[in-house]
Amino acid sequence: MSCLDEKNCPEVRRRRLALVMFGLMMLVFIVLSGFSFLSSRGQVTPDQVSFGANQATAGKRVFQAYNCMDCHTLVGNGAYLAPDLTKEYQDAGPAWLAAFLPSAGGWPTEAALRTQLLNKEVAADAGVDSLDAYYRKYPGAKDRVDRRGGKTTFMPNLPFHGNEVGELIAYLKYTSEMDTEGWPPKVMTGTLDHRLALLHGTPLVVAAPVAPAAAANVADTHDLAEHGEAVAKDFGCLACHAVDGKPLVGPDWGHLYGAQVKLTDGSSVAADDAYLTESILKPNAKIVAGYTPGVMPQQYDQLLKPDDVKAIVAYIRSLEKR
Ligand code: HEC
Ligand code: HEC
Repeated sequence: MSCLDEKNCPEVRRRRLALVMFGLMMLVFIVLSGFSFLSSRGQVTPDQVSFGANQATAGKRVFQAYNCMDCHTLVGNGAYLAPDLTKEYQDAGPAWLAAFLPSAGGWPTEAALRTQLLNKEVAADAGVDSLDAYYRKYPGAKDRVDRRGGKTTFMPNLPFHGNEVGELIAYLKYTSEMDTEGWPPKVMTGTLDHRLALLHGTPLVVAAPVAPAAAANVADTHDLAEHGEAVAKDFGCLACHAVDGKPLVGPDWGHLYGAQVKLTDGSSVAADDAYLTESILKPNAKIVAGYTPGVMPQQYDQLLKPDDVKAIVAYIRSLEKR
């Protein structure tokens, strides 16, 4: 169908209108695309974030090497077996992560957290050094300690060495600083019992927080070894040291007392009171063969009273007879 009078031809007018509309749409598309790139310009990149001397870029490699994503999600990727870790650093903070990651089979207690805050690198990164201030800044840490401290977890202990824990913390610090526009949504946290109670709508009987055993009066505790066991539990020693031959992050304490311990330098030493005391107060003085220095916290000399150390040694000695 042709149109003889060009000017009043409706077909030409419609075609022109369509072209103008198309041009307008293109303009809107280009302007909006520009905006969507603008917001990502302020995004952090891993090379800008560190934890002490540890780089987030190195932490990313550690995260991949240990296949954390086989169980966890991070920024929306990964598996759903374990909690999302994107905002873990912001929520629980570096001291909690430093207490948790080396011995992931047990949830950190308050004493374990206090131990980490005595570490200058950790306190500097947290920006606070008292426990109260830490809890205010990282409320997720208090929640985790109160509800689960000292209990066992469903996460396996992973054999980290060197700076891997610090590097992982740097990486989780980086993901916490990312602008994820509200991701992940608020998740249910707490112990399995707590989550089941929430799911089934049954009222939850919240267990009283574990009383700090270290505060118990030694004079009242007739059994020194029993007191030692309580202190070891409270300070998270038993998260790394088994007493029944199970391999954990640190050496097993069963049958340790009186035995000959092989050290990394090839020599041996008798596990007597002096050696055990030194191992607790100066963990890096002698390193047990097959283990890495720096994994066991170095701050117990500032935290444990001499009576507590004696009690722990008595507890390790009592295991010899079991
Ligand atoms: C085999 C599965 C598995 C792997 C691999 C794994 N995790 Fe976990 N992780 C878990 C589970 C399950 C939990 C929750 C434990 C619970 O609720 O008892 C957890 C908990 C955690 C938590 C505490 C979460 C919270 O909200 O308190 C952190 C942090 C964490 N894992 C970090 C890591 C990192 C980092 C890696 C890799 C280096 C890793 N995990 C590898 C299973 C795993
Ligand atoms: C984060 C894990 C971790 C925690 C927590 C921890 N340790 Fe250790 N511990 C280790 C590792 C790893 C070694 C082996 C390396 C070495 O010799 O320092 C070790 C070694 C020891 C040894 C020497 C064992 C032997 O077979 O010769 C003793 C004793 C000991 N720790 C006591 C303690 C006490 C007491 C506590 C709590 C107050 C504690 N540890 C907390 C990881 C830990």
